[in-house]
Amino acid sequence: MDLHCHSKLKTMASAPLLRRTDSARGDFSPLKHFVVAKKTISDVFEQLLDYVRESSAFVEETYGNKALENIASQDQKAKIQAYAEKLAVIQEVLSRRHMKVAFFGRTSNGKSTVINAMLRDRVLPSGIGHTTNCFLSVEGTDEDKAYLKTEGSDEEKSIKTVNQLAHALHMDESLDAGCLVRVFWPKTKCALLRDDLVLVDSPGTDVTSQLDSWIDKFCLDADVFVLVANSESTLMNTEKHFFHKVNERLSKPNIFILNNRWDASANEPEYMEDVRKQHTDRCVNFLVEELKVVDREQAPNRIFFVSAKEVLNSRMQRAQGMPETGGALAEGFQERLKEFQSFERRFEECISQSAVKTKFEQHTIRAKQITETVKGIMDAINIEAAEKRVAALEDREYQMDRLEFVKNQLNLLIHDIKKKIKAISEEVETKVSSAMGEEICRLNVIIDEFHADFHPSPHVLKIYKSELLSHVEEGMGKNLAFRCSNAVNASVQASQRDMIECMLPLLPSAVQSQIHMLVPSRKFDLSYDLNCATLCSDFQENIEFQFSLGWTALVHRFLGPANAQTALKLFTRPALPLARTPSSGPSSTVALPNQENAIMTQEDLMVAMATLTSRTSMGVVVVGGVVWRTLGWRLIALSTTLYGLLYLYERLTWTTKAKERSLKRQFVDYATEKLQLIVSFTSANCSHQVQQEMATTFARLCQQVDRTQKELEAEISQLTAKIEQLETVQSRSKTLRSVQLLLSQRAAVI
Ligand code: GTP
Ligand code: MG
Repeated sequence: MDLHCHSKLKTMASAPLLRRTDSARGDFSPLKHFVVAKKTISDVFEQLLDYVRESSAFVEETYGNKALENIASQDQKAKIQAYAEKLAVIQEVLSRRHMKVAFFGRTSNGKSTVINAMLRDRVLPSGIGHTTNCFLSVEGTDEDKAYLKTEGSDEEKSIKTVNQLAHALHMDESLDAGCLVRVFWPKTKCALLRDDLVLVDSPGTDVTSQLDSWIDKFCLDADVFVLVANSESTLMNTEKHFFHKVNERLSKPNIFILNNRWDASANEPEYMEDVRKQHTDRCVNFLVEELKVVDREQAPNRIFFVSAKEVLNSRMQRAQGMPETGGALAEGFQERLKEFQSFERRFEECISQSAVKTKFEQHTIRAKQITETVKGIMDAINIEAAEKRVAALEDREYQMDRLEFVKNQLNLLIHDIKKKIKAISEEVETKVSSAMGEEICRLNVIIDEFHADFHPSPHVLKIYKSELLSHVEEGMGKNLAFRCSNAVNASVQASQRDMIECMLPLLPSAVQSQIHMLVPSRKFDLSYDLNCATLCSDFQENIEFQFSLGWTALVHRFLGPANAQTALKLFTRPALPLARTPSSGPSSTVALPNQENAIMTQEDLMVAMATLTSRTSMGVVVVGGVVWRTLGWRLIALSTTLYGLLYLYERLTWTTKAKERSLKRQFVDYATEKLQLIVSFTSANCSHQVQQEMATTFARLCQQVDRTQKELEAEISQLTAKIEQLETVQSRSKTLRSVQLLLSQRAAVI
């Protein structure tokens, strides 16, 4: 509508508006002033109505947009809607506005004749005696034929009935003097009627007692009053009385005094000037002194000496193509005609200007008020929108900065925290590894603490061993936990706290206060998972009796466990396996014999035997020789006895307890070796657990930060949308405001 409205205004501005100057031109009726003003003000009101309706829609839309946080108020909305309705009513009223002139005077002064003269036709009944019986208005119609309407009826009656209706002498249908008969006369027949003029004829003021009701009914909206006086007599009190009453009700009514029947002065030319002066003085006095409706200088312009009858006759003759001076016209006709014309012009000027003032001024003021208020509303909305926009822009800037900060800070923190996680994992690995090393050294203590029923039978042994394994597992686990768990847990928790503290500033305060619920720092338990049962499943004890000075023991003592094993295997095969049963893994150097291994063992045996032989033979020869020589056979007997006793002793002490001890010893050696193997694996596992734990916490924090980022992004885009909306509101309110300025300029012209 903006463009539409602008273009409309431009056309309007360039159109001829109120050509006050034209009123002075002969070819241009001053009545046009009113007509043009009416057109202008109607246009202005039409545009104003469009403008207010558009503004109303805009305010309603703005008010309804909750995202804009009530930029427009309910009050503004209601106000502007009320204006739209009010303007529509005013527009309707304006379209019906017209200029109204009412003629009053005593009976037979010639009111009806004056109106007929102005209309240039015998429209209204006139005649000697009391003629006009009721109020008669004459207005223009676009139709070709004249018609009339009586009060309270829409029926169009023939104009011929005007005499029956309004003539006191033809009272077929009696009408009250306060009634109104509206006569519609074709505009084509009369220029005055084209220009929205309505002429009202009245019964003589001297024949009624209803002056007050007449004034109420017919005078309040009249723009000009014409007092038709009789110049053959003088102003009468009944006439004066009526105008006094009008003057009481209306402020400064426009009153013209026509001293009619001035043609009579031609009969007494010698007194003409004196009479004229007498009448003029009295009329001036009446208007200036009594009514005070006009000042003394202006008063003569309101008083005229005319002969309506002559003017009517001459105009009708002219209309019929006859010379207007034809017939028996009295002396001075031309002057009186001129004076009538000059009355007509003055009257037209006066009525058009007065009507524009009284009929449109209030509306113009109202229009101005409305546009001012609407402008005020638009200004308020504009300012509110501007303020909100600035606030939204600042808010968005802040959120953008924050997003940027969160992003950058997160990048830095990720790097930092990864390093921290790595460090703590490594620390845990070292700690667990050293604790395990120490625990492995103390394995014999754990094993010694184990007590269970022991019996060499395979069945009991199996149970014994499995219990021993779980005892070791449990004991080791407990000890490791005692050594590491608390420290590790503490450092993990400290690091988690650290991490949370670092990340906290990146989160919104609502999340900050709930961070311990969102990222719970639960108690972290390191699981060592030694799994002794599987690890030591291959353990095979050797609890057979072995004499310390026996062949096997000696071989062991002299060849070392590895060579002895090899050597003994050859001799004892397929005897019982040795204490150290070969098992899978890097420790088992001796595998089950096969072709290659057989060759290998042959070579090994040769070496072993050679060593053994050389050592023993040398020993035997030397010792034997010396002993034999010094001690002889007794010593040998003693030695043999001692050897035997020793054997017996050892054989007797090889009890179940001893067997258990031996088994435990063997297990300590075996488990030590096996556990050594898993130290690095277990510590790596623990380190992994810690790393996992830390990574989980970090991931949760990152998730929160991510959410924060997403929320910030959403908020930023929401703000952007809001800013755009506010900009639209701003520009629309600005446009509507400027339209208002144009309209108020237009209204001011009127
Ligand atoms: P009511 O309707 O009865 O109140 O009278 P009115 O004031 O309308 O007078 P109307 O026009 O009927 O005229 C009364 C008589 O006066 C008619 O016969 C007219 O012809 C006559 N008359 C009107 N004007 C003049 C005039 O200027 N000069 C002369 N000589 N006679 C006039
Ligand atoms: Mg009359």
